[in-house]
Amino acid sequence: MALAISRETIADIKNSVNIVDVIGEVVSLTRSGNNYLGLCPFHKEKTPSFNVVEDKQFFHCFGCGKSGDVFKFLEDYRQISFMESVRLVAERAGITLDLPKQQTVAKANPNQILYDLNSEAAQFYHAILMTTKEGQLARDYLQARGLDEEVLTHFNIGLAPKQPDFLYKALSDKYPNHEEALAQSGLFNIDEASSRLYDAFKNRIMFPLTDDKGRVIAFSGRIWTQQDHEQKQAKYKNTRSTLIFNKSYELYHVDKAKKVAQKTHELYLMEGFMDVIAVYQSGIENAVASMGTALTPEHVRHLSQFTKKVILTYDGDNAGQEAIAKSLELLDSLSVDVVRIPNHMDPDEFLRHNSKEALKQLLEQGRISSTEFYIQHLKPENSDNLQAEIAYVEKMAKLIAQEPSITAQNSYIHKVAELLPDFDYFQVEQAVNNERLISRSNRQKTSQYTQQQVLSPPVSKSLSALMKAEIQLFHRLLHHDYLLQSYRNRLDFTFDTPEIEALYELLCQQGEITSLDLAEISDAERQMYYRVLEERLPDEVASGEIEAIERRREQLLTERDIHKQSKQIRESSNQGDVDGALEALQQLIAQKRNME
Ligand code: UTP
Ligand code: MN
Repeated sequence: MALAISRETIADIKNSVNIVDVIGEVVSLTRSGNNYLGLCPFHKEKTPSFNVVEDKQFFHCFGCGKSGDVFKFLEDYRQISFMESVRLVAERAGITLDLPKQQTVAKANPNQILYDLNSEAAQFYHAILMTTKEGQLARDYLQARGLDEEVLTHFNIGLAPKQPDFLYKALSDKYPNHEEALAQSGLFNIDEASSRLYDAFKNRIMFPLTDDKGRVIAFSGRIWTQQDHEQKQAKYKNTRSTLIFNKSYELYHVDKAKKVAQKTHELYLMEGFMDVIAVYQSGIENAVASMGTALTPEHVRHLSQFTKKVILTYDGDNAGQEAIAKSLELLDSLSVDVVRIPNHMDPDEFLRHNSKEALKQLLEQGRISSTEFYIQHLKPENSDNLQAEIAYVEKMAKLIAQEPSITAQNSYIHKVAELLPDFDYFQVEQAVNNERLISRSNRQKTSQYTQQQVLSPPVSKSLSALMKAEIQLFHRLLHHDYLLQSYRNRLDFTFDTPEIEALYELLCQQGEITSLDLAEISDAERQMYYRVLEERLPDEVASGEIEAIERRREQLLTERDIHKQSKQIRESSNQGDVDGALEALQQLIAQKRNME
């Protein structure tokens, strides 16, 4: 990381605030002994396991394992970079940072000009909608669809005027030497004959698409005049793919929805952005939509960055229901519920036929599990077809057997049986039981296999004792410079625990571990660092303490070697490798002698 602020300044900034105050603004904390406790903002929980340790100025969640200092908290909570979090804390503490803004921006973004052009375009379109005569008519159309000014502003909706080169004139005036960027922005098409650029969107209501950071990267434009409607123009037109717009990855409204999802821990996924806008009006702000494409694995990867739970809210028509089935397969790494909108409507139509309250209630209380969705969706049409019924029961039995709760299993079995004229509860249950047996025997096979792979209990026990000893030793090195100096001179000394060794190397190199380091090291290393800090040792190093830890560490290391060798002897002699066994045995004896 190229440093614009010195390590000392970063340390000053950190010391100028109390982590308890910063976190306390967004998490309700209560004092508990030396620490503060609250509900973890990074995972869903009912009983508090999120700890803020005031004297050491860090947080740690026993539930999800997340830990870090004030910068790390802001990074994860606000989804910003380390430097942005430093800047935020500095601002709070009233420390001014002279950062050459231009330079950092230019370095961060080779495509900055494309973002600028798209953001300018959004501003132009929005101004046209809100302030011109032409815009007034479009606003009437939107008003009739229930979109008031607040909604137009929140979604930054605009209007591309009829004039074919309105935007081109405006932007080429403002960016005279950027013809290539204009051509790459996705905002213009090229006229082959004259090789001139003209606006890609004309006479359309414009919905800007933003990326995770809220930067405008593309548009979708909807026809709205009677004439375009009659001429059967495509209803929506989207920006083509560009260097900053990958339509298989981006999600409409994700920048705002992800912030809400941090609290609700779920995201609604919808088919169209008019649906996202509709549910926003009923107070649901954690909804996103893909942009004119079916869901892709890239979308799923994108969604998983912000939530573990998705509520699929597609249109109630047949196409929508088929799309749910397809998306459920792609979303198998997440927990998914489904909302089925009645009477073949989409969320936007449902809102217009009912009320904001009714839509909210449907989305929050009308959810079904994915298994329930399949029970309804795959039900055979023709109730005389026994073959189809059998196939259906077998498919459902597989799904139901995977359900962890037995109560839920029973209720699904009931539902399936109720739908079928030729099956009763016990017959469906029988099919589910068969599946349970199959999956249990598969599980046993895999667990036997993994048992052979993992270390046997005594070794893992001594391993963790070893780690404990190393944590204590590293704690002392971290806080007592004279000890660090003497260990530095022992060139052959290394920690056995890889994370502690990595931290130790860092400490030896720099003499300290700073916030900046903590932002750059791996999660496992950072967690280890705070585990070390959590170790409550008296400030004073007791006489003989270090020697005692060292002896214990040596002993545990030797025990582990002996264990490894005994195992090797067993394996060698099992395989008839007498020489190998003998050699290992000799090493073992030598070691035992050393220990005595
Ligand atoms: P819908 O046809 O369901 O649109 O397409 P909608 O959300 O109900 O919109 P309104 O209510 O008619 O205004 C859903 C999504 O499919 C893409 C768009 O992304 C839209 O949001 N789409 C649809 C296109 O890309 N092009 C089209 O011509 C139609
Ligand atoms: Mn619609």
